[in-house]
Formats: sequence, C-alpha cells, structure tokens
Amino acid sequence: MAQFSESMDVPDMGRRQFMNLLTFGTVTGVALGALYPLVKYLTPPTSGGVGGGTTAKDALGNDVSVSEFLESHNVDDRVLAQGLKGDPTYIVVESKEAIGDYGINAVCTHLGCVVPWYASENRFRCPCHGSQYDPTGKVVRGPAPLSLALAHAKAQEDKIVLTPWTETDFRTGEDPWWA
Ligand code: FES
Repeated sequence: MAQFSESMDVPDMGRRQFMNLLTFGTVTGVALGALYPLVKYLTPPTSGGVGGGTTAKDALGNDVSVSEFLESHNVDDRVLAQGLKGDPTYIVVESKEAIGDYGINAVCTHLGCVVPWYASENRFRCPCHGSQYDPTGKVVRGPAPLSLALAHAKAQEDKIVLTPWTETDFRTGEDPWWA
C-alpha cells in the first residue's frame, strides 16, 4: 500500500484543486462523484467479515449495526455504506424489522460518479450526466448503459454481510455484467 508523508510531492495545481473542492465543494453529488476515485484510492480495501462475506461499514469505517440502522432510517430508504471492495453500496430499508436482501452498488455505469438516491422521486439520479435508475438500481434513462451492480445482503449478528452477486440479475433476467 502506498505510504504518504509530508515530503510526498503533490503537484501544486492538483493540491489547489483538491483544497478548493474541500473548501467550496460542500456535499454535492458532483463533488462526491469527483472525489470518489481519490477516496477509494486512499481507503484500504475492506476485508474480514462474517461467514466469508464483507461487513458493511459506515463513513467512519465501523461496522453498521443493523438494529441502529433500522431504527434511524425510514422504510424504503436506500442508505449508503461501504460495501464489497470498499465500493459505495446502498442498503435497502425493507421494513422497520428488516433490510433488503440485496445491496445496490452506487457507482454509475456511465463514467463512475456516485449516484445519489432521491426518496421524493423514488429513483437514483446521477448528477454527472443525468442517468436515472429505479429503486432496485435498474437503469431507466441513459446515457448509463447498464443497471447498477448488485450484491447479496443479509443481517447476521447485528451486522450487514455482503457477498458477491453471481446469479441472474433479477431485474433483467440476464447474467450479471459485473460478475
Ligand atoms: Fe452517471 Fe455519466 S457518470 S450519467
């Protein structure tokens, strides 16, 4: 893994642009999308988990507690967590008692922006070029060519365990393009 130190030579322009993003970019979908590759690069791959899966993590890198998660979110919400390989992944609030049995990878299949969930519109809408996805992550408007990737999700010992989805994509009836 790369080690960073103060002596690391960061080009001035890159540093200035990055600081500008931090200072003025606030939390917009565009800034999130732009920062995603850097954050992913700096974040160590998530490993470990329960029963061979990967546990979903919150923004601080702590395991998501299923009970607290369900307590603090509304039914039908899609909530971001760190999923397989550290990818931003939406966990589905199926009911006040249960999460959905699939997670939705938040990386747009067009050019890789992180796609925000708009509960009031009941869809994901990409801030970069306008692609839209239904609540299951199925693409309903381009330019994104494909639906968002899936992962299996299940609650286990008050954690959310994610495992790769290699079976038929239930939204399209086709083999998963990401497997
Ligand atoms: Fe999402 Fe282009 S990256 S529409």
